[in-house]
Amino acid sequence: MGQRPYVIDQMISAKAIAARIEGLAREIEAEFAGTDKLVVVGLLRGSFVFIADLVRELDLPVEVDFLEASSYGDGMESSREVRILKDLRGKIGGRDVLVVEDIVDTGHTLNHVVQLLRAREPRQLETVALLDKPIRREVDFKADWTGFEIPDEFVVGYGIDYAQRNRNLPFIGKVRFTDENQG
Ligand code: IMP
Ligand code: MG
Repeated sequence: MGQRPYVIDQMISAKAIAARIEGLAREIEAEFAGTDKLVVVGLLRGSFVFIADLVRELDLPVEVDFLEASSYGDGMESSREVRILKDLRGKIGGRDVLVVEDIVDTGHTLNHVVQLLRAREPRQLETVALLDKPIRREVDFKADWTGFEIPDEFVVGYGIDYAQRNRNLPFIGKVRFTDENQG
């Protein structure tokens, strides 16, 4: 499957992403104004570029931590069973927490992670996803902030992979297979 030939068509430019992150940062700053130190939690690995750009845009005291949850293997299908592969290093009880995700697709991953983290009783916990594919949703979940709503396309770039490739593209592109006819 990873062997099928494909091309990547740009969907969201690096410039558009940067502009949107500025807007998100202003809203997040307003929500967490006065926080002692915000714990920004990136979900590995797809959010690593987004979190790097977002925290540099945030005019707030921040601490950065990471959590890795599995839901996809090397393909395009969600397994629906979410496992924690790497937990946070720090404690979040009583803290202000912002969970940063690349994409909300079926919703299983972020829904599961939020339940897990809420059980640790943070003072406040909010979520931000760069991308959202609402049409794909299987559980009732909505991030507190979304960068862009996108259609049901498989996307790569800006940290997001297809079979571990293309994370280093500076833009978001959609994968188009070239071994079959597609509109
Ligand atoms: P969910 O649990 O179905 O919401 O899936 C969320 C995770 O699936 C995201 O964090 C991504 O890692 C991955 N994912 C969903 N859609 C795509 C895509 O279009 N390209 C690459 N990864 C995706
Ligand atoms: Mg992910």
